[in-house]
Amino acid sequence: MPSLPPAILADIPATLRANILADLPEIMDIQDHGLREQVIAAWALSLRDSPFSRISDIPGEGAPNHFVLRQGTQEMHLRGVAHLAVGVVDEFLRNFPGVEVDRDIVLAGALCHDIGKCWECDPANQARWQARPDKTGYPSLRHSVYGAHICLAAGLPEAIAHIALGHSMEGAHIALSTECMIVRWADNSWWYSAAALGLCQPDTLAAAGGMMSPRPAA
Ligand SMILES: [Fe+2]
Ligand SMILES: [Fe+2]
Repeated sequence: MPSLPPAILADIPATLRANILADLPEIMDIQDHGLREQVIAAWALSLRDSPFSRISDIPGEGAPNHFVLRQGTQEMHLRGVAHLAVGVVDEFLRNFPGVEVDRDIVLAGALCHDIGKCWECDPANQARWQARPDKTGYPSLRHSVYGAHICLAAGLPEAIAHIALGHSMEGAHIALSTECMIVRWADNSWWYSAAALGLCQPDTLAAAGGMMSPRPAA
């Protein structure tokens, strides 16, 4: 897959790198050193062209005005999805040690699945798209699509770009890898659980349908 030149990807300011690892410490649990560095480079690339200085600055929402957390930001969601997805893998490996699953791809994919929110949650992009959706579309590219672009530009494996694209509604139109399926359901579990627990703003839950009766906020 074509990607940016390695020299550009390796040029990550020390503070930015430290903040990425502070927000997503699970990156260090990725066993493949090269994959771990590609995840850091991808987040650095996505943040570089956005108004957000770090992952914990990105709003805590499934998409703008959709499953919006009452409090907390995006790093809580990414870490939670990573914990759930890896927990699913480890649960099945414990009882079915013969199953074929790439734990590193699940972990890296979970940590990168919403990497495109630097673009979709950018207030300037939102204002631009809302001003002339007839010209730009709304949004022009959802975070899943932009996220796949970032993953490929950063040199991440196709399997991670597939998770960035397939975790979201776009994934309903393609066949998903096993690792993507695990991340997709971990992502859904996180948001539906957060909503049911009363952690999301109720007026942002229309997509959850009639089954959702959120618990009152504590
Ligand atoms: Fe997403
Ligand atoms: Fe997500």
